[in-house]
Amino acid sequence: MSIKKQTLGEFIIENQTAFKYSSGELSKLINAIRLAAKVVNHEVNKAGLVDILGASGDTNIQGESQQKLDVLANERFIQTLANREIVCGIASEEEDDFIRINSADNNHQNKYVVLIDPLDGSSNIDVNVSVGTIFSIYRRVTPIGTPVTLEDFLQPGRRQVAAGYIIYGTSTMLVYTTGFGVNGFTLNPAIGTFYLSHPDMTFPETGKIYSVNEGNYIHFPEGVKQYIKYCQKEEGDRPYTSRYIGSLVSDFHRNMIKGGIYMYPKSSANENGKLRLLYECNPMAFLAEQAGGKASNGFEPILDIQPEELHQRVPFFCGSRKMVEKAEAFMQEYSSK
Ligand code: AHG
Ligand code: MN
Ligand code: MN
Repeated sequence: MSIKKQTLGEFIIENQTAFKYSSGELSKLINAIRLAAKVVNHEVNKAGLVDILGASGDTNIQGESQQKLDVLANERFIQTLANREIVCGIASEEEDDFIRINSADNNHQNKYVVLIDPLDGSSNIDVNVSVGTIFSIYRRVTPIGTPVTLEDFLQPGRRQVAAGYIIYGTSTMLVYTTGFGVNGFTLNPAIGTFYLSHPDMTFPETGKIYSVNEGNYIHFPEGVKQYIKYCQKEEGDRPYTSRYIGSLVSDFHRNMIKGGIYMYPKSSANENGKLRLLYECNPMAFLAEQAGGKASNGFEPILDIQPEELHQRVPFFCGSRKMVEKAEAFMQEYSSK
């Protein structure tokens, strides 16, 4: 890798001035996430060597079995952010409730809350397939200096200040947006530095990949069934290719680079699908829109949904703009909300 490339640290400093009235707080926060990403990357990479593969024996609030690395990644992110007293609150997919961060004198002035999916795609850990971390950042709505409340976390995705993911893949990347496009940074593991490798990432307007767990086909709404048939039909640039890793971060990342659509619809088994609005769909939707793509629940933009609870789930259609619009058209035609 050329050492001429800009480092993430340099990029953050250079772009800090892009924020009006910036106090540097968001930059410090992104820096803390960068550090936590390196720590978790280190743990993920040695997963096969030490006793951190497999299930922890516990379940999270959503009744899903937690993997040891889920728990570890959750701890590492929370510790890094809490120790730096850089946020006033954290919500995590792996925690029952949100966490209030108090400073030593109980009177810090931090204005940001962070929401995380510490380890996404955890069923892939044991088989050495890419996993990720997703994060989402909001400005609190309650007064600075007071303890955060649920209201600070239940904001529509449209209000995100920043969002991103880390993909622990063939190489480790941090991809994020602060509302001025999407940039991707690749970790050089030898020296522990992220370099700007993918500036200004954009979804191709359309693509040839559809990503969905087709094992659930029989349970899908009619609109999704019809759209899948459309993807498979021999006509024009179709049939499309089916690619599904089972790790949203990885599926999204590939589709953003190559062009494609990711779907996790509702089904007769899961009334609202599986993915969580706050920890997964909102941050990915913000990234998608910033990259010229689209994200929807089949009927309306994900970013416009008013969340009602921390662990809320929503159907998710996300990716290349024209493909998502086509899927929405099928939903309108064949399925009721
Ligand atoms: P998590 O590991 O954080 O629970 O998320 C897993 C999610 C998502 O990453 C993935 O696309 C989807 O669940 C896979 O679900 P299925 O196995 O039902 O297809
Ligand atoms: Mn996840
Ligand atoms: Mn997870």
